[in-house]
Amino acid sequence: MEIEKLKQRLLSLSLEEKVGQLVQVTPDFFGNKGEITGPLGQKIADSTRYQIGSVLGTHRAAEVKQIQADYLAHSKHQIPLLFMADVIHGYETIFPIPLALASSFDEELIERVAQNSAVEAASEGIHVTFSPMADYVKDPRWGRVLESNGEDPRLSTALTKAYVRGYQGDDLKKETSLAACVKHFIGYGAAEGGRDYNTVDISDVELHQNYLPAFEGAISAGVQLVMTSFNSVHGVPVTANKALIQSVLRGKLRFDGVLISDWAAIAELKNHRVAQTSRDAAKKAFDASVDIDMMTDCYSEELAAIVEENHLMPQLDAAVWRILLLKNELGLFENPYRGLENKVDKDQLKVEAFEVATRSAVLLKNEAILPLKKEDKLLVVGTKAATTDVLGAWSWIGDSDTAISLAAGLEKECSAIEIIAIDDEKTDWSKIKLAAHAAEKVVIAVGEDSQEAGEAASRAKLNLSAIEQELIDVISHENSESILVTFSGRPLVLTDVEEKVKAIVVAWFLGNQTGTALAALLTGQKNFSGHLPMSFPRSVGQLPYSYQEMSTGRPMTEENADQKYISRYLDEENSPLYAFGHGLSYSAFTYSELRVSTDELRSGCELELSFEVTNESELAGYALPQIYFTDEYTEVIRPKRELLAWQQVQLDCGETKTIHFTIRPEDLAYVHSDLSRTTDPGEFRFYLAKSALDIVSAVSVTYVE
Ligand code: GLC
Repeated sequence: MEIEKLKQRLLSLSLEEKVGQLVQVTPDFFGNKGEITGPLGQKIADSTRYQIGSVLGTHRAAEVKQIQADYLAHSKHQIPLLFMADVIHGYETIFPIPLALASSFDEELIERVAQNSAVEAASEGIHVTFSPMADYVKDPRWGRVLESNGEDPRLSTALTKAYVRGYQGDDLKKETSLAACVKHFIGYGAAEGGRDYNTVDISDVELHQNYLPAFEGAISAGVQLVMTSFNSVHGVPVTANKALIQSVLRGKLRFDGVLISDWAAIAELKNHRVAQTSRDAAKKAFDASVDIDMMTDCYSEELAAIVEENHLMPQLDAAVWRILLLKNELGLFENPYRGLENKVDKDQLKVEAFEVATRSAVLLKNEAILPLKKEDKLLVVGTKAATTDVLGAWSWIGDSDTAISLAAGLEKECSAIEIIAIDDEKTDWSKIKLAAHAAEKVVIAVGEDSQEAGEAASRAKLNLSAIEQELIDVISHENSESILVTFSGRPLVLTDVEEKVKAIVVAWFLGNQTGTALAALLTGQKNFSGHLPMSFPRSVGQLPYSYQEMSTGRPMTEENADQKYISRYLDEENSPLYAFGHGLSYSAFTYSELRVSTDELRSGCELELSFEVTNESELAGYALPQIYFTDEYTEVIRPKRELLAWQQVQLDCGETKTIHFTIRPEDLAYVHSDLSRTTDPGEFRFYLAKSALDIVSAVSVTYVE
């Protein structure tokens, strides 16, 4: 619709009709079933049903069609409803969880997954996805690390931008695109104790340095919506934090799109005790420029009076305008049924889901036991041996009954296989011992149920269950040739079992094609290429932990490890069990020394880092060379080492490639105490590495302004 006509449409709305555009409900307000992803309790009056602006949580095209048709039949102004959903890693075809996708360290792969998800979701009538989740995380006790891109701000920023590009494409009017909603603004991942919805208290330097970049990236990629987070920042819940939103989101980041609250977050300002009534809550959220009230009655019951009493019609018009513009961008005025029932090539999606899953698993350890031979006499045993509960917590209308289990996948590939699925009650230990003894190799499948990670799924202990640890003990006594496969939405604590097995594969939740992908990887038809986007701790006592350990006054070093007054534990090592960036392959890669084009980098210039990587093995594969750097002297404390660049490099047997990374001074900038992000002159050290703790070689450079 032309902008002038859209403006006329806005001006023709009554106060109540304008408020209605800011209200979002689930399909049951239209007598349909829908996805409930939060507490219920709202009482949106029936009278406003045909004035609301958007619906979240529909499943199928038929529902969307029925609700849209019913709504438009009763709508005076023919402003179509917007339909939103949590399309987090697929819609019906479920891809690996975002933390698994991040293990690929591959922006193109992420963009393809987002694109494929959008095609399927748009064909079922979805217009907006509540994705990407851009939260910076460093505490796997928080179940929502499942939805994140892991513990590195640069990796998370690159992947967040890739999601936005994939969902939105180059034209939102295209019926296979979705508008993206980046979330949760901001700081949600810093919940104290890793306990979901708990208090957050982070410094401004930390917020601007580590939490903001991924949101900046999403906004630079053109994201259409931002969602506020449940937590507080500077003591004020974000949903009511006018100072933060106006100065940072609308100000510094210049976001002028739609800001939506998280589920019931406006009403929950009363639980935070920063609002006494729904009127207070609505006023505070509206003043903070929250445009859409997700699933509460605060706006629908209170906002009209607030606008009248405080002469806020211009602000209301601005909020409604942002929503109408979004609907117009999506082409909804021309076609309120955009995308509905478009043909989707499900077989192609299945192939994509398989390929992506093979790129998302991580091989942590392999003492020459993998790949399996197809004729290996195999026992597959464990709580997760035959489970199809492998889609993860945000798998929308994915049906786990259609997922392929590890056992089903291996049965197709291996000729001599016995499967023993165990659960707490009836474990036949004698049968397991006999089978383990008779097998040549044992695959032990353990880990989380899909509901043990994700939202409202915090864990204070991250070990395997007692029966799983007992199983590993039993197997290790009967047969030393064992491979551990873990299913989880987060890093687990594997310290007690790590030495009892010869190989460890992190399968995360790999989606519909879990079994086929794992079978291809375990039998060597596919090569591992995943690397950890989050460190695996030795114990929860180390948490929160990130490889980006900051310099301290009394660091532990190789030289002083026996001293008393240093930063260390008496009962645990400082290092993680497995480091950020760690991941093995069946191939053997060697790296040359790191080279640098100059040892003096001048302002406005750039330098080039280069090196060779060679595949010395008989198996083609992906190497993931990583570049880290240290800024040797800084105004505020900085990490001893931070990721700067990476590249997935595909190499045939015996192939050598020369890799180049171009580095500019602004790439080395950090947030100073005055919150400016600038690069100081001085010494920098660059490292070529296989992980945050596995350095291959290093060079030094001086930056001169
Ligand atoms: C949930 C989540 C958010 C999700 C929203 C809608 O509570 O916090 O990530 O997008 O509600 O389902």
